[in-house]
Order: sequence, then structure tokens, then C-alpha cells
Amino acid sequence: MRGTGQQHLSGSTIAGHQNDSYMEEKDLWYKRAVVYALDVETFQDSDNDGIGDFQGLISRLDYIATLGITCIWLLPFYPTPNRDNGYDVMDYYNVDKRLGDLGDFAIFIKEANERGMKVIVDLVINHTSDQHPWFQEARRNPNSKYRNYYTWVKEEPEEDIGKPAFADKQDGIWNWDEEAQMFYLHRFYEHQPDLNIANPDVREEIHRIMRFWLMLGVAGFRVDAAHILIQSDTEKDKLEFYDLIEDMREFINTHSQDAVLLAEASGPPHVVGSFFKGKQRMHMMFNFLLNQHVFLALARKEGSPIAKGMRMLPDKDYTSQWLNFLRHHDELNIEDLEKSEQDDIFKVFAPDEDMKIFGRGIRRRLPPILSDNRARMELAYSLLFTLPGTPMIQYGAEIGMGDDLTQPERNSVRTPMQWANALNGGFSDYEGDLIRPIISSGKYSYKKVNVTDQLCDPDSFLNWMERIIRMRRQFPELGSGDFSIIETDNRKVFAHSCSQKFTLYVVHNLSSQPQKVLIPELQAAEPNLIEVTSNQTYKAPKNGEVALSAYGYRWFRVRKSLAKTT
Ligand code: NOJ
Repeated sequence: MRGTGQQHLSGSTIAGHQNDSYMEEKDLWYKRAVVYALDVETFQDSDNDGIGDFQGLISRLDYIATLGITCIWLLPFYPTPNRDNGYDVMDYYNVDKRLGDLGDFAIFIKEANERGMKVIVDLVINHTSDQHPWFQEARRNPNSKYRNYYTWVKEEPEEDIGKPAFADKQDGIWNWDEEAQMFYLHRFYEHQPDLNIANPDVREEIHRIMRFWLMLGVAGFRVDAAHILIQSDTEKDKLEFYDLIEDMREFINTHSQDAVLLAEASGPPHVVGSFFKGKQRMHMMFNFLLNQHVFLALARKEGSPIAKGMRMLPDKDYTSQWLNFLRHHDELNIEDLEKSEQDDIFKVFAPDEDMKIFGRGIRRRLPPILSDNRARMELAYSLLFTLPGTPMIQYGAEIGMGDDLTQPERNSVRTPMQWANALNGGFSDYEGDLIRPIISSGKYSYKKVNVTDQLCDPDSFLNWMERIIRMRRQFPELGSGDFSIIETDNRKVFAHSCSQKFTLYVVHNLSSQPQKVLIPELQAAEPNLIEVTSNQTYKAPKNGEVALSAYGYRWFRVRKSLAKTT
């Protein structure tokens, strides 16, 4: 696979990776990327109607690029009744007119690419909106080819294929349609009928949709709800699903030099493991398992859950990559943890009932979860940027935006971007209601948390985030090197190394007390160790002993003379 190449010049220079044997690895752009997730409608309004749009986003591309981002993941921007934040698509080949048009989209891609950023878009193929013309025709006309685009039954089956995705918001997964006089399958909300992916015509549509957006210059697709697509009791259906993703992979390889498929897939290791199969299935996958274990480690103030989470991850080949994240636009889903582990997280991070959702998650952003403790937030992001995989942040994370629990469901974490201490936080000049209320009171109000103020303050979270991203990009070992967990004598600490041509040792203290930890591997490397970043100034490690402040982190690199040559 050959990429068009991201600009990572400083990283290459410092790393000294001019060796040809690493060229192939460098070409896997997605292993070196730093991803920024954003929703056009809540990012920046340019025409003062209270809704973010593509022109607004374009005007903010320099901000995103100078933060160090190399890839933008755009949440759905397609025409939609917007009953599930755009994940209810009415037309796969257009831009919702509130956000702009295809012309704006093309300019956006060009402008992002010119700034060295690729763009990934959501591919929502598990379901459509019930307002999609396919569904409207399907319910109306039993003889239409669209009838078979969805799954219908005359009687509700006794045994269900899968369970409702939003347990406390849905009655089941079959909904009666008066017009069709049949039940249709919907594993999400009832206004989102599931597409019948076994139907060759639906597969053909998926190809057409992919081709369309690839032609417009996207660098790949986030395959929405991939783990739901696979939910089935029959092996035959599962095989059909794998056949679909292998078909999509072949399609993308044929039509693009470097575009990727990124699966939104959660579940136990054997389930998520099946989404990776060398160069035949997904290139990337959201790392839900690690995400949950990082939060367990933060809640218990111990490093050991991270080691447990890492050890659980299924094997994958070199071209497959995890996408690591802390929070995104959905709930913090902890359903794959054991009950006692979930209880520990809920107890400290969601003590009030309305902080929880769907019986399995937390609808808060990171700063409120961590009581706005700056040292702890830095620790969490230092983990994100050093654990093996590609890191992703949600818009607003870089300034420490909070949540609004008065908003329904997951909208709590989807409030408009806070640009300045100005009308509507600088998001929009509209005097009426915004697409969603901006946070305007309390600790996380735009008056206190905003980009403009933080740009002027060298100690702001924004400036810290920019520095840590710069660090991360200078050390490609972190994204694609061989990873090892370092066993230590201190459970509070998590230590690991990543090696490629060089080795990085990284040590994190999850606890609220200063710690000392013995790392024998480090002792041998001591004369050649360079401390590349840390939360404060420390004395160099001696006899393998590393000191860390409360929630401290330290990144070390072994000087070239001790570099591994394998
Ligand atoms: C996954 C998306 O992340 C979520 O926001 C959405 O509700 C479901 N897919 C259903 O489309």
C-alpha cells in the first residue's frame, strides 16, 4: 500500500528514519496519523443561522492543522431528519443543505489536503432513515425492488437476531409498519430500518456510495455500527457479513491507493478480532476494549488494568491498526468489562443517575469525569498518545470542553465548539436558538473555556495539547513499533516500551500519590537515555529507579548508539 504521504518532516528528522527499510512502514499513513473527530453542524457557523456549516469549518482548518492534526473524521453530514445526530441518512449522495452543498464539500477536501490533512467520512450502511426514499418505496410497494432492501417479517420471530442497541430507549428490534402490514428489522431506533446487506442490490449501492465519496477525495470510511451488522445467530449470516467487508476492502483497494476502512466495532476479543484479517478486512478499528480498561485504570488509580486490556487485544498483522481514543460523540461504553469493574467506574465517574446512559455507559466528557484535575487529564492524554495505535480526539477536547447534562441522551457531549468569550462562544452570530445550546454557565462555560483565551496563555491546556501532539508525531515508534508491557514492582504504575529502529520507554503513574518504580530494562540503557517529555522536571533515573509525581508521566528514548537494528 502506497500513501500520498503526510508531512511528518520533523518526526523523520528527529527519528533519523531515513533508512529505506522503513519506507514501507512510513507509507502506512494511518499508522502515523493524529485524528480529530468533528460534527460540521456544531463546529462553526458561517451564515448565521445557528447551525455549523462547511464554509465555517473551512475557515477553521488552519486552527485544526496547527494543532498537529493529520486526519479529520467528519461525522455524518448527509441529508437527514436528524433524529440520531445525522446517523439517520436520507440520501447518501449529498450534503444536508443546512450545512452547505457538494461544492462546499469539494472545497473543504481541497483545503484540508492542502494543509496536509486527510478526511475520513462516516459510512452508515447498517440502516437508513425511515424517510429515505428506498424505505418509503419499500413500505408502499411490495413489488418494488426496494422491498428487499430491508428485512420484513409477517410475525415477530420468537428468537431475536441480536438485541436492541439502545436497551432502555427501544422496545425491541421489530417494528410494525401500517403501510406494509409487516414488521421491519431495526437494531437501532425504530426510525432507522436496517438495510438487508445480503441483497446484491444493496451491496451494489454500497459500492456506488463508496465510489462517489472516494471520487470526491475522501481518504476512507468509518464503517458505522460494524459490530451490529455482524449480530446474528446464524453462521450463514455472519459469513455474509465477512463476505461484505472483504468485498468492501477489495473495492477500496481497487479504487484508491491509500483509503482505509475504519470499523466502529466493539465487543469481546474474539468478535473484534474477526474484523482484522491482514489485508482482507478492516485496516483500522476503534479500540473499545483498551478504552474501557484505561478508564478502569483511571478509576482504580492503578496501572494494572491497562496491562490487562492490552493483553486481551486480539492478534493482528502489521498493516492493521487500532484507533485509540478517550471520549467521542457517544457514551463511554463499558459493557465489555466485568460487573465489579463497571461498578468501580460508575461509582467514581458517574455517581449521579443522569450521568449514565443505556445501562452501560457514561454521557460525560473527560474533564468533568476527572474532576477537572489538570494533572490527571494530562496523564490520560499522555496514555492516549503513547499506547500503540493511532490516537483520536473529539473536537473541543484540546481546550478541555465540558458537557451539558441538561441535554437529552448523548447530546450532553455534542455541544457547539467554544471559540471565544463572545456571543454564542464565537460559534455563531445568530441571535436565536442554536442547533444545540452552547455551554454558557458554570465552570465549562465558553466564557471560561475557549480557544481564543487559551491561545494567548502559554500554560493553557490547548498549548499543552499542541506540544504533546507534536511529541507524538516525532516518535513513529509509538504508532507502529513493537509494543511490550514492562513488568514492574508497582501496581500503581503502567510502563511500556515501543521499538522500531529506536526504543521508547514510557512510564505513567495512575495514582494520586508520588511513586517510585524499578524498571530493570531502563538501567542498561541509562547512559543513553534521553527524557523527551514529562509532566515536570525530574532527576534522571538511577539504577533503573524512576520517580513520578502524582499522576506523573515520563517518556524516554534510547539514544541512537543503543538502537535496535532488528
Ligand atoms: C453509531 C454512532 O456512533 C451512534 O452515534 C449512532 O447512534 C449509531 N451508530 C446508530 O447509527
